[in-house]
Amino acid sequence: MQAKYSLKILNLSRADFQAKRSLLVDIYISAYRSMPMYAYNKRKSVKSYLDWLYKGDPEGFFITEVGEEIVGFIACHAGWEDYREGKVCEIHEFAVKREFQGKGIGKTLLEKAIEYALLKNHKKITLWVGEGNGRAISMYKKAGFHTLYKAGIWLRMKKEIP
Ligand SMILES: CC(C)(COP(=O)(O)OP(=O)(O)OC[C@H]1O[C@@H](n2cnc3c(N)ncnc32)[C@H](O)[C@@H]1OP(=O)(O)O)[C@@H](O)C(=O)NCCC(=O)NCCS
Repeated sequence: MQAKYSLKILNLSRADFQAKRSLLVDIYISAYRSMPMYAYNKRKSVKSYLDWLYKGDPEGFFITEVGEEIVGFIACHAGWEDYREGKVCEIHEFAVKREFQGKGIGKTLLEKAIEYALLKNHKKITLWVGEGNGRAISMYKKAGFHTLYKAGIWLRMKKEIP
């Protein structure tokens, strides 16, 4: 499905990230409401997690806005080292506000992440996804990811970038 909204995808300066962090926590919590087993559930933990994501690769942290409202974000790390795959661009987190899901916004953010990996000269983009997260898994498969292996409740997925 194509996004029917006019979307802006932006990086945040450190100051903007700090100013908007509480909104990003709301988005994360709203996105995972139906899947608490795959998420941090305490605001404080989500806040620390977001700090870790942003600090890891500020350039790879993208938010998306509809009008003036932030409705989602994707956090990539272009300097990630995977113990099996070596250097990869890792998608650490990806969330779209619940009421904006299913409208093509996630797909647009994922395309941005792939574009970012290419820009950073990566040949591999990897991620972990909950084994029962059918929506995300189906999106990743459509985008060319395949499953490498399973670890507990998580699937490791990879996309080779031609
Ligand atoms: C996963 C997530 C980021 C996708 O964002 P989104 O804006 O809902 O995704 P899109 O609308 O762009 O849909 C992309 C694909 O997801 C799948 N999808 C979307 N809505 C769906 C639904 N209601 N049922 C099943 N699959 C669905 C489809 O494969 C869709 O592709 P299509 O439009 O070609 O059919 C979002 O659902 C989310 O925040 N989920 C909770 C957090 C999460 O699971 N993050 C991923 C962690 S690895």
